[in-house]
Amino acid sequence: MTNQPIGLFDSGVGGLSVWRELVRQLPTESTLYVADSAHVPYGNRSGVEVMAFCEGLCRFLIDQGCKAVVVACNTASAVALEALRGRYPAVPILGLEPAVKPAISLSRNKVVGVMATPATFQGHLFRATVGRCASGVRLVEQVCLGLADCVESGAAEEELERLLRSFLDPMLAADADTIVLGCTHYPFVIETIRRLAGPERRVIDPAPAVAAHLARVLSERDLAASSDARGVHRFFTTGTAARFDAACQRLVGLDPRSEELGWQRDGAGLWVVRAASEPTAQQ
Ligand code: DGL
Repeated sequence: MTNQPIGLFDSGVGGLSVWRELVRQLPTESTLYVADSAHVPYGNRSGVEVMAFCEGLCRFLIDQGCKAVVVACNTASAVALEALRGRYPAVPILGLEPAVKPAISLSRNKVVGVMATPATFQGHLFRATVGRCASGVRLVEQVCLGLADCVESGAAEEELERLLRSFLDPMLAADADTIVLGCTHYPFVIETIRRLAGPERRVIDPAPAVAAHLARVLSERDLAASSDARGVHRFFTTGTAARFDAACQRLVGLDPRSEELGWQRDGAGLWVVRAASEPTAQQ
């Protein structure tokens, strides 16, 4: 048993959809959440760039003493999950991938829509899952450019609906009866997606399954917090604290009093994040 925190990171506020479920299911666990708000969105960046950011964020969380890390971002998981597990074999590192398998078993007509970023669709994780379990199934892959930005900025409902309709139309035209949210930002607009998709279609948010999986991993490795512990939560952003705090308040009803981090190169030229108040490294 250990009361060290669980680390989570995302390109921005999307991973809070995983964080809120983790806190709901595991109230004794403490967390450290990092939003790489300086680089959001990740979805249309190159793999090399996203990999460098993920390495810096994961290293920060492990240096802070996290006993496990959740890559609370499908895009980051698609690009960096395997490499991070290779680098830190002693720390359980969980990732997110579109919940294609459960969607297929729930779908009656075997037509499944998947909403994600371009980088997630191009990633090896997604292609491997499709190869393993999607034979005889029609998958409608919908790249949702701009949707994560709408969640970050809290776009007006009309703008959101207009964008969502353009993404949902091809899936509805193909008669997908199950829709997978393959980006952690999207559960924050799940009610609008459900309303536009209609009551006969299922929309799947993977966060509850990820939190349940984390609970199993912690208990198998004897890493769960003691039963009398009370979770303490810290939030960091590589952007502006006031902006992150406002988004956090809007999305999960919490004033996180986030701490600012800054990106810099270390002596080996790798990207690292440090408290914004720490002195900058020699370039
Ligand atoms: N939240 C991230 C994901 O799950 C993506 C958003 C982005 O940065 O493009 O894929």
